[in-house]
Amino acid sequence: MAATALSRFADGGEPAADPSPLKLTQETRLGLKPGDARDYRKFGGFYLLADEKGIYALTTTCTHRGCTVHLEGDGTFGCPCHDSSYDHQGRVIEGPAKLPLRHFEVRESEPGGPLVVDTSKTVPPEVRL
Ligand code: FES
Repeated sequence: MAATALSRFADGGEPAADPSPLKLTQETRLGLKPGDARDYRKFGGFYLLADEKGIYALTTTCTHRGCTVHLEGDGTFGCPCHDSSYDHQGRVIEGPAKLPLRHFEVRESEPGGPLVVDTSKTVPPEVRL
């Protein structure tokens, strides 16, 4: 499955038959605190994060040549291919990458309900839920 393919899962669950954006449980949403980062690489190629302004999702794909970035212990992201690094908001700290990590759309499936992350939709980096 390509990183941009859309599939529906409950947290840690199996994909359903009909493709749609990844839906996360209410428990996931309530557990996110500023500074947190959750790894959803195997479910759709993104990290789910939170800061003081809200919740957002970042691609796992390095903007230099497309390797998968890894979450570091200090909350930054590092690329193992050519050592680019990005901060918690996806901004470049160190190249060779020149562009920030893409932000994906995060929305509520219903008001106050579970989250939906759509890796087919890029949003401006300042957007938070
Ligand atoms: S692909 Fe990430 S630094 Fe080159």
